[in-house]
Amino acid sequence: MFNPDLNPYVTEMDQHRDIIKTLPPEANKDFFDFIKTDAPLIVDLGCGAGNFLRDYAIQNPDARFVGFELRFKRLVKGAVKFKKRDIDNIRLVQARAEDITDWFPEKAISEIHVNFPDPWPKKRHRKHRLISQAFLNNVHKLLRDDGAFTFKTDHEDYFNYAVEQLTAYPYLNIKEYSEDLHNSRYNETNILTEFESLFKGKGFPVYYMKTDKL
Ligand SMILES: C[S@@+](CC[C@H](N)C(=O)[O-])C[C@H]1O[C@@H](n2cnc3c(N)ncnc32)[C@H](O)[C@@H]1O
Repeated sequence: MFNPDLNPYVTEMDQHRDIIKTLPPEANKDFFDFIKTDAPLIVDLGCGAGNFLRDYAIQNPDARFVGFELRFKRLVKGAVKFKKRDIDNIRLVQARAEDITDWFPEKAISEIHVNFPDPWPKKRHRKHRLISQAFLNNVHKLLRDDGAFTFKTDHEDYFNYAVEQLTAYPYLNIKEYSEDLHNSRYNETNILTEFESLFKGKGFPVYYMKTDKL
């Protein structure tokens, strides 16, 4: 029987199995074939409805892109968006960003992006923030030797916290930094995310950093 309370995007996701991959990782042989590449492999953690991936992939048709996202609606909206533009070099994974090591071998990824992660502003909730020493260790393990990790947020406290975490982590080095990305020299190559467009429209500053491996 049709259950009207069911999130309609749960069933709609079935139409996009070519793009959206779900747990368990080992049930997705085609995904592991997709990421086995010498071309740049770019990962967006908490990718939302995929604007950043879409625009980055259009600029770089030879690279491969993977987005991690939990919400059904955002995954479906992303897949529809990619198909509308005939983009075939993006896959979406419905899994926690914290479990990224289940989906890639070591030194496989060229770039890992975290854009506007949930800020968990209350002190007692900080343990839920994605950026941690354990996470950075995974990032370091998965990046190619010339790989980079980038972080953008509108949230000053999370940004300062992420800078502290990176400074305390000995194997990644901050090489680009701005407390006002859109008025900085890094803006020229910046690709807007959905959340970023909203903040930009309101005139709020965006915090940005990029790190490479030591
Ligand atoms: C504030 S939104 C930002 C979306 C997008 N990156 C942007 O900048 O427009 C954060 C996104 O991360 C997703 N998310 C939250 N926790 C996550 C996790 N542990 N793993 C993967 N995605 C997560 C949320 O569902 C949401 O879509």
